[in-house]
Amino acid sequence: MNILLLGKNGQVGWELQRSLGVLGRLTALGHAEADFTQPQTIAETVRALRPDVIVNAAAHTAVDKAESEPDLARLLNATTPGVLAEEAARLGAWLIHYSTDYVFDGSGSRPWVETDAPAPLSVYGRTKLEGEQLIQQSGARHLILRTSWVYAAR
Ligand SMILES: NC(=O)c1ccc[n+]([C@@H]2O[C@H](COP(=O)([O-])OP(=O)(O)OC[C@H]3O[C@@H](n4cnc5c(N)ncnc54)[C@H](OP(=O)(O)O)[C@@H]3O)[C@@H](O)[C@H]2O)c1
Repeated sequence: MNILLLGKNGQVGWELQRSLGVLGRLTALGHAEADFTQPQTIAETVRALRPDVIVNAAAHTAVDKAESEPDLARLLNATTPGVLAEEAARLGAWLIHYSTDYVFDGSGSRPWVETDAPAPLSVYGRTKLEGEQLIQQSGARHLILRTSWVYAAR
């Protein structure tokens, strides 16, 4: 199984390099090799590598900064993941994508479930939700993991 990991140097990506490496032939790329501001180049990379599974851990994760650079946040969190999904659909590959509890508004007193209505309050949350929607609409086989409060040694 060919696995393509994007965002290999982030908190999540760094740990995924270790856990995915034992599951198949892993190609792990970071910002320098796969720049999400260049969606066409990302598409070409996927076409060249022909992965069975794409794992996307790259994102614009600076929540406060995203308020002042919404276009960049949208490119990284929505547009390019959408392109990844289109390429995955073309190949019949799986796309595993990380999203966030920031797609919700933080209200309420019980844990969120998948079917709760999203209501993001920030550029980060809105663009992550747009990314989810583009992936869902792409027809690609996908998993979207809405994680929260990641911490790591790195
Ligand atoms: N951290 C949390 O608490 C948290 C909570 C909920 C959800 N998530 C989600 O979990 C996923 C992983 O987050 P993380 O905590 O591992 O974030 P992170 O440590 O900030 O890693 C994000 C990665 O994205 C890369 N990146 C930034 N701009 C890029 C670009 N233009 N092209 C390609 N790569 C680029 C960064 O590379 P450089 O550093 O080289 O720029 C970095 O390696 C994200 O989808 C995030 O939204 C995280």
